Amino acid sequence: EKGGYRHFMLKEIYEQPRAIADTVASRVKDGHSDVYLEGLQLDDEQLRQFDRLYVVACGTSWHAGLTGKFLIEKLARVPVEVDIASEFRYRDPLVTDRTLIILISQSGETADTLAALREARGKGGKALAICNVVESSIARESDGVIYTHAGPEIGVASTKAFTTQLVALYLLALRLGRARGTLDAQRCIELTEALLTLPRKIEEVLELDEQIEAIAKTFMSASDFLYLGRGNQYPIALEGALKLKEISYIHAEGYPAGEMKHGPIALIDEQLPVVFLCPRNETLEKVVSNLEEVRARDGRVIAVVTEGQENLLGEVDALITVPDIIDELAPVLMSIPMQLLAYHVAVFKGTDVDQPRNLAKSVTVE
Ligand code: M6R
Repeated sequence: EKGGYRHFMLKEIYEQPRAIADTVASRVKDGHSDVYLEGLQLDDEQLRQFDRLYVVACGTSWHAGLTGKFLIEKLARVPVEVDIASEFRYRDPLVTDRTLIILISQSGETADTLAALREARGKGGKALAICNVVESSIARESDGVIYTHAGPEIGVASTKAFTTQLVALYLLALRLGRARGTLDAQRCIELTEALLTLPRKIEEVLELDEQIEAIAKTFMSASDFLYLGRGNQYPIALEGALKLKEISYIHAEGYPAGEMKHGPIALIDEQLPVVFLCPRNETLEKVVSNLEEVRARDGRVIAVVTEGQENLLGEVDALITVPDIIDELAPVLMSIPMQLLAYHVAVFKGTDVDQPRNLAKSVTVE
């Protein structure tokens, strides 16, 4: 059932173009000037009423939520707070009948996320689930649901569930933007058309597999990794670090690149690999100057960059080049090298990639 792949995780990484196409299919409508989310259960009037959104989740799903904040605030101009489920539920959150709570969960069974959902609904908020498992508890107990059509995810380390969550949040941001009048039809057409190019671009990134495997071999003996990104890439830095920790047992931290000089810079020496997420966007120059700070201290730089921008970076120890895409979708594309890097490091280290120690696929204890 691994379809010729050595691990479920690798199979699931390769399934992403298909999983994303399935998550988008039938949801883009009207010549692409709007999207249709069949289980949303919220009409335009209701979508206009919310004055605050909470996104609540755990682990990788929380990272998806952090990216969702950028999308929703940018396209729908409504404040979004993102919280870890086990924190949200114990702090008497400010929920009213004008609050939308978005619960993200691959399994739909995570105990803390389910408890947060109950807490929020008990306070009169409306709950919208983004789940992969159909008819799971979180999906059933929410007012509405957007299913990611990733298909079953067996590997404990989430891959295709994560990128389809990012796509579901993108679709939701478009729907909210259209309903709230902050996104015009023309811009929506551009954004949906960009979305339709995503599976093909992910395929191009998957072609870098062997190159990334070689990079993994070079860096597999490091005892720590640092992952840095700005803006909507900061959650991808967190996700890259989590993937590596989970399956290779190497300590890794994700940080907003601009925070480096406020502490983590003290870690940098000739042993430390630093993964830089540098897609083409407004903050690229700033990220490059952070990269130079690392290089000046002899850190080992692994950079992921948009094609055509390579020479802006100067010298690096490893360079991964991905296709150009609009900034709103760059987090999805940048996730793929993070997954492959963690995967290959783990394989070189000989860990149990699909069933890492101490972890369960779905965490049903609080
Ligand atoms: O099923 P969920 O999305 O609610 O699971 C949340 C986390 O337990 C999960 O994302 C975990 O962090 C993964 N093992 C990450 O790869």
